[in-house]
Amino acid sequence: MSVIPTLEADVLRRQDPELAEVLLGELTRQSTTLQLIAAENFTSPAVLAALGSPLANKYAEGYPGARYHGGCEIVDVAERIAVERAKALFGAEHANVQSHSGSSAVLAAYAALLRPGDTVLAMGLPFGGHLTHGSPANFSGRWFDFVGYGVEAESGLIDHDQVRTLARTHRPKAIVCGSISYPRHMDYAFFREVADETGAFLIADAAHPMGLVAGGAAPSPVPYADIVCATTHKVLRGPRGGMILCGGDLAERVDRAVFPFTQGGAQMHTIAAKAVAFGEAATPAFAAYAHQVVANARALARGLADAGLVVTTGGTDTHMVIVDPGPLGVDGRTARGRLAAAGMVLDTCALPHGDARGLRLGTAALTTQGMGEAEMARIAVLVAAVLREEVEGRQAREEVRELTGRFPPYPE
Ligand SMILES: Cc1ncc(COP(=O)(O)O)c(C=O)c1O
Repeated sequence: MSVIPTLEADVLRRQDPELAEVLLGELTRQSTTLQLIAAENFTSPAVLAALGSPLANKYAEGYPGARYHGGCEIVDVAERIAVERAKALFGAEHANVQSHSGSSAVLAAYAALLRPGDTVLAMGLPFGGHLTHGSPANFSGRWFDFVGYGVEAESGLIDHDQVRTLARTHRPKAIVCGSISYPRHMDYAFFREVADETGAFLIADAAHPMGLVAGGAAPSPVPYADIVCATTHKVLRGPRGGMILCGGDLAERVDRAVFPFTQGGAQMHTIAAKAVAFGEAATPAFAAYAHQVVANARALARGLADAGLVVTTGGTDTHMVIVDPGPLGVDGRTARGRLAAAGMVLDTCALPHGDARGLRLGTAALTTQGMGEAEMARIAVLVAAVLREEVEGRQAREEVRELTGRFPPYPE
């Protein structure tokens, strides 16, 4: 089966060659460059098949058994399967799988627990907080009063004393633990303790580590947080989308916060694809994958440190590595451009000391392709050579092509 079922049937190519070219062009780009963006991965052909299925046609406002539209008996089965699989995978009492994205899941979590004007304590954006953790450009910063905690400049680790002090001083209604660029495990027990001491709800925004949690390669926030928000893409390797886990006591508030408060009809094709991904994530093969993702990130971190880059926090517990390319005489933005030209795609991110941009590298996609620690060591050397301009662009691209040729994301 082709990874783009509609192209296999030649339907799109015949009807809309212009768009067919775009889809094939993107498949080629993904297959011939290194995907080091920590938030990306390659979903399985089965997940892609569910996304491109007739469930995309169905309107289904509401929840299984209580829809505002007729003809939902079959898609109800898909959503029930997704919910049951999510609950079993993460040991949660309740799962809502309708959030269209990670951001909509966070919006719904706030809607379930907060009122406009409430105070929320979350990681500050300059230290790795997400847009939904109080950016003035986002609904969160406009509707709530955010207080930001940070990381220690020297170690890059969360400043737990500051978290406790800020919670005692500001008495937030909710505390959010989660980040877009924190490469270490969050201490969920600590955040729970501070939330209990100060009378706050605890929201874990575990968009990044949730795939590692599914595979047993990272601690779970589920026993500690009142609400866990996550994306179903990233390491979890499902379709782009969000989900929310919580205890039975908050189930109704969460469900009503998703629909009808923040969303309309559920996207049933995406929910079916989430069910497929949860099924895949429950297998021993996925557990092995999740552990390999971390082993690869550690190998990449070691290689980059050996090559002269500064690895924040001294390493990683997860799928991401945050580095300061400064010692190689290049800033984050220039570094990203040079690497992109060589076929290595990644993001810039905040650095602990906050006065320059660093690079965020992730191993989720490379590991799905079957690469291991030896390839990570080779990529680290290539990254440093490109940043130092010791290797010509053409030569670097050839090396990338050789790797992607040996480890194609969609061999079939
Ligand atoms: C911590 C965190 N929260 C929320 C999101 C938002 O997810 P989405 O892009 O699906 O809205 C992300 C995405 O990277 C994230 O890392």
